[in-house]
Amino acid sequence: AHHALADQRGRLLRDLRLSVIDRCNLRCQYCLPARLHGDDFPFLPAARLLSFEQIEALVSAFIDLGVEKIRLTGGEPLLRPRLPELVARLRALGPHLNLALTTNGLRLNTACNELADAGLNRVNVSLDGLSPTVAERMAGRPLPVEQVWHAILQARSAGLQVKVNTVVRRGVNESEILPLARRCREHAIPLRFIEYMDVGTTNNWSEGDVVTGAEIRQRLASLPPLVPVPPQPGDVARRYRYADGSGEIGLINSISEPFCGGCTRARVSAEGRLYACLFASEGVDLKPWLSTAESSAGSLTARITSAWRQRYDRYSELRKKQPLTNRKRSEMWQLGG
Ligand code: GTP
Ligand code: 5AD
Ligand code: SF4
Ligand code: SF4
Repeated sequence: AHHALADQRGRLLRDLRLSVIDRCNLRCQYCLPARLHGDDFPFLPAARLLSFEQIEALVSAFIDLGVEKIRLTGGEPLLRPRLPELVARLRALGPHLNLALTTNGLRLNTACNELADAGLNRVNVSLDGLSPTVAERMAGRPLPVEQVWHAILQARSAGLQVKVNTVVRRGVNESEILPLARRCREHAIPLRFIEYMDVGTTNNWSEGDVVTGAEIRQRLASLPPLVPVPPQPGDVARRYRYADGSGEIGLINSISEPFCGGCTRARVSAEGRLYACLFASEGVDLKPWLSTAESSAGSLTARITSAWRQRYDRYSELRKKQPLTNRKRSEMWQLGG
């Protein structure tokens, strides 16, 4: 029987974001800037990544705690060897699970059919521009934009629900807002614009780099009017559909309109550390509880339960009042977003 687990602010544990690898084949300036993360950057060695058995133990515990939505993240999750096998194993644990993946799309064309066959439901693909020059500036490496776009359509043909995620950075890719909106609308692919966030310690974030959701909406004024879609619990995006019925836009306003009150997500890093907030200073190491031995299963759920029950973070809501500059923080590529 599933009991709803509530934290100090009454938020229920509903989703799990699970990083399967910390490395990435891009160097997005807002996440893993190339000047600090060369080709020889010491990501986790394979031996320190959770094994599939450990991931199964973890996911079983979260299912017992009432979690129904699981999103695989990275780094870039498609760099994890045998990812479709992992998806199939998670599908076997929870036939009812909503299984999703967040990817940069570089390897999606070759993987999407296998992933869909393995039981994946949804994929969110990051794409910050249609202009190869602008996309490369955001991604920190050459980006085959049309190949990623093709993979998006292929993934949908494979039966996956696909959305596009675009982080907007002032003075870098604002010019791409309208072209991306037009392209996604033309193909009825939902597109979400994300306010650039101050995650981690390496992206030199400043408030001036943020293009707010309200501003983004104004930039879409030449398209058909947007009609609000009623919010679903756990949504991070304000959703809109075009009045003429084709396509959908989401605005993830984490800076201008924080949504900590509805934060039902737990995060686990690729080496098995549990974080509640994206801005947490440290996680809880779950690895010691991840042996598959029957006897340890109860203590794993107990560990997660006590961590969730203690949770009272709401970083984005506090940011404006007291920016916490010198705190230790984890990076987006370690947390999976
Ligand atoms: P679905 O709505 O289930 O499709 O997924 P999602 O939007 O939760 O996941 P995705 O990986 O596509 O993330 C989109 C953006 O939302 C990323 O920039 C995430 O970092 C951000 N995001 C997701 N959850 C949170 C959260 O709890 N807090 C904040 N501040 N940002 C979040
Ligand atoms: N601010 C906002 N979004 C970010 N992402 C990565 N770093 C940041 C940041 N600093 C996005 C990625 C991906 C999602 C998981 O998070 O582009 O779409
Ligand atoms: Fe890689 Fe995603 Fe970070 Fe970009 S945002 S560097 S694609 S993990
Ligand atoms: Fe949740 Fe932290 Fe994001 Fe607020 S800032 S929504 S508490 S992850």
